[in-house]
Amino acid sequence: MAVATRMILRAAALAGLMFAAAAVPALAATEAMEPPEQHWSFEGIFGRFDKAAAQRGLQVYTEVCAACHSLKYVHYRDLRALGYNEEQVAAYAAQFEVEDGPDGNGEMYTRPAEGRDPFVSPYPNDKAAAAANGVAPPDLSLMYKARENGANYMYGLLVGYVDAPEEVEMTPGTYYNLYFPGHAIAMPQTLFDGGVEYEHGPEATKEQLAHDVVTFLAWAAEPKLEHRKATGVAAILFLLVLTGLLYATKRKVWADAH
Ligand code: HEC
Repeated sequence: MAVATRMILRAAALAGLMFAAAAVPALAATEAMEPPEQHWSFEGIFGRFDKAAAQRGLQVYTEVCAACHSLKYVHYRDLRALGYNEEQVAAYAAQFEVEDGPDGNGEMYTRPAEGRDPFVSPYPNDKAAAAANGVAPPDLSLMYKARENGANYMYGLLVGYVDAPEEVEMTPGTYYNLYFPGHAIAMPQTLFDGGVEYEHGPEATKEQLAHDVVTFLAWAAEPKLEHRKATGVAAILFLLVLTGLLYATKRKVWADAH
């Protein structure tokens, strides 16, 4: 076969594939909707975590989400990065109990959690978590990174509960959510206007609670984000300066040759 014909055939096959791919979302009517776009303090190359929002988010996590979700890759002492001092971290951790041991007699015992401990999980294991909720609530430490468009998706999920359309029959223990793939999620709506009381700061609408807890969870998944971005910006500045210097050197070296 002539090369040109082969190329045309290949292009046609590719176009067919692209057409097929574009047609898929139209067929899958129960697919989740694109979550609403939010403005996030930590996005963009100069992005930084809004610490006040993340602190409020910690409160939302503690009072609402922690009843079902673990956060086992975050340690209490990591909260220092959100602007808490050592005593505040110790006081926060001490509200929770961890099992430790064995002691001198070979006995396990419980003690208040300390800075060095990971966040205490609500259930002893996944089976217990699944038994209580139908589906085990996943650990939230890395959820921001585990889901595409993580921040907007989680925000959408938390505010996206609506009544199921009439023609949709929900299995017991599932709730209709606009942004969850397949729409039937085993997590009930957990955020409501005024559901958490903020000492100061903005009005605690469910949207605000969602925004704050997602800021906190994004920080939990990527505590080094600010450092990484600062390093990136420094590297780019360095490369710009280096380019300038090299260009000046090149002109100098070649000046006589021209
Ligand atoms: C009453 C228990 C409960 C509470 C409280 C709760 N969740 Fe969930 N959550 C679940 C369960 C169960 C699932 C698994 C749902 C499924 O897969 O159908 C889940 C799943 C999730 C998921 C993953 C969805 C996905 O794409 O797989 C996220 C994110 C989430 N929860 C965030 C939160 C946040 C943030 C809070 C606090 C504001 C919270 N949850 C409070 C039970 C809970």
